[in-house]
Amino acid sequence: MVKSLLDEVMTVSLRRGILYPSAEIYGGLAGFYDFGPIGARIRNNLIALWRNRFIERRDIVYEISGNTILPSPVFKASGHLDHFTDPSAECQKGHVSRIDQLIEEKLQIHAEGKSNKELAEIIAQNKIRCPVCGDPLGEVKSFGLMFGTNVGGERRQAFLRPETAQNIFLGFKRVQTATRAKLPFGVAQIGRSYRNEISPRQSIVRVREFSQMEIEYFIDPNQMNECPFFEELSGIKLNLVTQEEQEKAAKKKSTDYSSIQVTVKDAYEKKYVPNQWMACTLGDEVVFFQELGIPENAVRFRHMRPEETPHYSGGNFDLEILFSFGWKEVIGNAYRQDHDLRSHMNGSKKDLSLELEGKKIIPHVIEPSFGIDRMIYAILEHTYRPKNKSRGWSWFQFPVNLAPYHAVILPLLNRPELEEAARRLYQQCKLQGHSILYDDRGRIGRRYARADEIGIPKAVTIDPQTLDDQTATIRDRDTAQQTRHLLSEISILLKP
Ligand code: GLY
Repeated sequence: MVKSLLDEVMTVSLRRGILYPSAEIYGGLAGFYDFGPIGARIRNNLIALWRNRFIERRDIVYEISGNTILPSPVFKASGHLDHFTDPSAECQKGHVSRIDQLIEEKLQIHAEGKSNKELAEIIAQNKIRCPVCGDPLGEVKSFGLMFGTNVGGERRQAFLRPETAQNIFLGFKRVQTATRAKLPFGVAQIGRSYRNEISPRQSIVRVREFSQMEIEYFIDPNQMNECPFFEELSGIKLNLVTQEEQEKAAKKKSTDYSSIQVTVKDAYEKKYVPNQWMACTLGDEVVFFQELGIPENAVRFRHMRPEETPHYSGGNFDLEILFSFGWKEVIGNAYRQDHDLRSHMNGSKKDLSLELEGKKIIPHVIEPSFGIDRMIYAILEHTYRPKNKSRGWSWFQFPVNLAPYHAVILPLLNRPELEEAARRLYQQCKLQGHSILYDDRGRIGRRYARADEIGIPKAVTIDPQTLDDQTATIRDRDTAQQTRHLLSEISILLKP
């Protein structure tokens, strides 16, 4: 049987410690995965690249690190307690299905955002049954997506946050006062979030515990078209799926959309996006995805349809990646206007406004929300290279900055003088700041295969000639070609 790309990627991921189900020895729990030693390195590298691009390179973004358990009034004010639900239905045997997704899969039509009554009608008209056992489905109900808990002796109700964003709004006044930041400025957070998904699926693309990298850009509402990054990003090209295109496709009962290509400048000037800040936010993401090894034609922005966005949204644009199982959201970009700060002002009775030229204003917010796990899976799929005639094993073509190690050092033979030279080079490269693996186990061909399978860009082999002329070979992962270099030059040649 031909394996799907998902199965192939997961087979290598399990074998090589990239990721595996949490609590696997107890049968696991759907929608929970751990990153192993290789996956954790890739994850750390991704976070470092993101932090560098979106925080360190910008003088106006501050990072916080907040708690994941927050008291229930937070989520009453944010709207999550009342509205953060998915439509579900249970069959007589107790299998619960997420109904909008089931309809989309069965009928190839958009169902997200429809009311429970509308969904129930579609189920009845099309005689859709339980996908697990084929029994009829029961009533369509709203299923709350937050994990609840009780805190301490008082047993106060609290929830695991469903997004990192809320800590940012809650601490807005503290951060602004402490940093004395002037608008516009951003507050970023990297951390875990939790959603009790009805049907987690596709490896780490839809999981119940996941990680996000979010920024809330706080902007003077009168300056939404004065983004300081506009000049830098104005020529970047965006693949855009317009709402009009989606309406056209819906009439043909299709979700196969074409996109148009526009520059950041045109997206703003021709009003494909609500403001300059949103155009720049999308442009920044395109540049970032190029760094990650994901081809340009596998990245697009879909202007969310009105029924998919909350009433307060001034325009949402999902960055979608083409996976082997279709286009899926990896980043949500939302123009949230002043909704969040205003809601928490009402909920907490605290003043979160800022004074600007003698007037009180509530900043508007542009929010890019990156899903770390989905990004990692996108990178795995797009850099995966199956085995072929010239290479008898599959491998990952990770960009150097994402790869778990810059290089592996391999003594060719088990001889003490070779091992000593290899260890010396290993220590030198480490001192130069490289992340390096040392591998002296097994035949050399197997060792190259192991290194390729975890996407290490270079393999440095110490052989008997090294002892004569102080040289070693560097094997390039992408071409499998070997070149010989002086040991003193190796560390420089490994630089990303
Ligand atoms: N903060 C937006 C999201 O988590 O989807």
